[in-house]
Amino acid sequence: MTVDTPEYLVGQADAIINSWAVRRVADSAAYLAPALEPHMKILDVGCGPGSITIDLARHVPRGHVTGVDTDAASETLAKARAQAAQEGVTNVEFAVADAFTLPFADGTFDAVHAHQVIQYVDDPVRFLREMRRVAKPGGVIAVRTWDLGLFTFHPSTAAPINRMIDVMVRTFRETGREPYTGRNLHVWAREAGFDPAKVKLSSSNETYHSAEEKRFWGHLAKNFSVKSAVAKVALSKGFITKEELDEVEEAFGHWVSDEDGWFIQVNMELLAYV
Ligand SMILES: C[S@@+](CC[C@H](N)C(=O)[O-])C[C@H]1O[C@@H](n2cnc3c(N)ncnc32)[C@H](O)[C@@H]1O
Repeated sequence: MTVDTPEYLVGQADAIINSWAVRRVADSAAYLAPALEPHMKILDVGCGPGSITIDLARHVPRGHVTGVDTDAASETLAKARAQAAQEGVTNVEFAVADAFTLPFADGTFDAVHAHQVIQYVDDPVRFLREMRRVAKPGGVIAVRTWDLGLFTFHPSTAAPINRMIDVMVRTFRETGREPYTGRNLHVWAREAGFDPAKVKLSSSNETYHSAEEKRFWGHLAKNFSVKSAVAKVALSKGFITKEELDEVEEAFGHWVSDEDGWFIQVNMELLAYV
C-alpha cells in the first residue's frame, strides 16, 4: 500500500483492530439476527478480528461460518482462529480472500454479511455484486456501515475532533471512497442488481456518554484519527498539519473527561434478498 493509493484507509494497527474485537451479533448485526436459521452457511466479508464471525457461528449451531479478510490482515485472521479455539466454537473458519474476487462458487451461502467494510472500498456496487454472486437464490446480503456525515461529537471541547471528521470526508473523497456511505446503500444495491422490493433498510445508533463509554470510544476514535492510513494520506495531501493532528489527539483527552461530552454514530443497515 502506498500513501497515494491506499487499498484500505484504516491500516492494520493493533490499537484500532483490538477495539473492534468486542463486537457481537447483538450490537452489530441485530438487524440480521431474525433472518438466521440454525443450519445456515454464512460468509462474513472483511471479518477483521472475527468476534462477530464467531458469534454468528453460535447463531447457526448446525451450520457454518467462513470469515474472510485481505492478505494484509493475515495476522488478525490467525488471532481470530485462536480466539475461536479458545471459545470452543468449531463451526467457523477464517481465510484470506479479497471481497472483489471471492473464491467461492456462485450460490454458495445462505447469508453474506459485511460489517463496517463497504465504506472502505472504492467500488461499492461491485462489492455488493460479488456478495450477491456467492449468495444462494433466496439468500440474504447484510451490510452495515456508518455515514461520516452522521457523526456528532459534542460539546465545544470536541471542535478539533469535528474538524478532523471534515478532513476524513475530504480524504475519503480524494481516494475514491464515498464518506456519506450509509445513505447510499439502497442505491448501490439497486445498481448491483437487487430488486428494490426485496431490499430492507434500517438504522441503529451507537451512543457514548458514560465515563466508561467515552474512554472506550475516545481511545478507538483517537487511534483511528491519528494512527490510521487516513491520517497519513491527509498529511501527505496537506489536508491537515502535524500540529493540527496533535491538537486532535489532545482534544480527545479533553472530550473523554468532559462531563458534558458525548458522541453519537448513526449506522445504516441493508438486508437485500437474492
Ligand atoms: C473496520 S474493519 C471491520 C472488521 C469487522 N467486520 C468488524 O466489524 O469487527 C474493516 C475490515 O475490512 C477489511 N477489508 C477492507 N477491504 C477489504 C477487501 N477488499 N476484501 C476483504 N476485506 C477487506 C479490512 O482488512 C478490515 O479487517
